[in-house]
Amino acid sequence: MQNSIQAIDGNAGTIQLETKLEDKSVLMMVSDTGPGILEEDIPKIFRADFTKGKKHGTGFGLAFCKQAIEAHGGKIQVKSKIGTGTTFTIVLPIKNIAADQKQIDQERVHASHAENNVENRI
Ligand SMILES: Nc1ncnc2c1ncn2[C@@H]1O[C@H](COP(=O)(O)OP(=O)(O)OP(=O)(O)O)[C@@H](O)[C@H]1O
Ligand SMILES: [Mg+2]
Repeated sequence: MQNSIQAIDGNAGTIQLETKLEDKSVLMMVSDTGPGILEEDIPKIFRADFTKGKKHGTGFGLAFCKQAIEAHGGKIQVKSKIGTGTTFTIVLPIKNIAADQKQIDQERVHASHAENNVENRI
């Protein structure tokens, strides 16, 4: 979002936010009608040391976003066209917390059974 605001840079332009619920994931799209990103820069933008065209950019923004999203099992993709704009799409998996907890509980029961068996043999 911050990047889109900076890309518009006070000029007439639009920023569009879209969310979509799919079967097992949530999609979030941030689109802007800013200047776009050069094709040769696309592979670099998620690097923590890549910043371009900003006075006070650290380059850390997208690197942090990517790391946080991937740590949650998601992904971030970018589509950009010079003179047209940029769209970032974030896909995050929907986790079934109840199912996860059930699995953890079952694993605990198995582990304690295994422990009891060892004790019984001793
Ligand atoms: N929506 C966008 N439109 C045009 N260029 C973008 C856009 N988003 C990112 N970029 C380019 O990618 C670079 C890296 O973005 P990133 O958010 O990682 O760092 P930054 O914005 O430069 O610094 P910081 O996030 O610390 O303010 C930016 O400097 C900019 O050149
Ligand atoms: Mg940024």
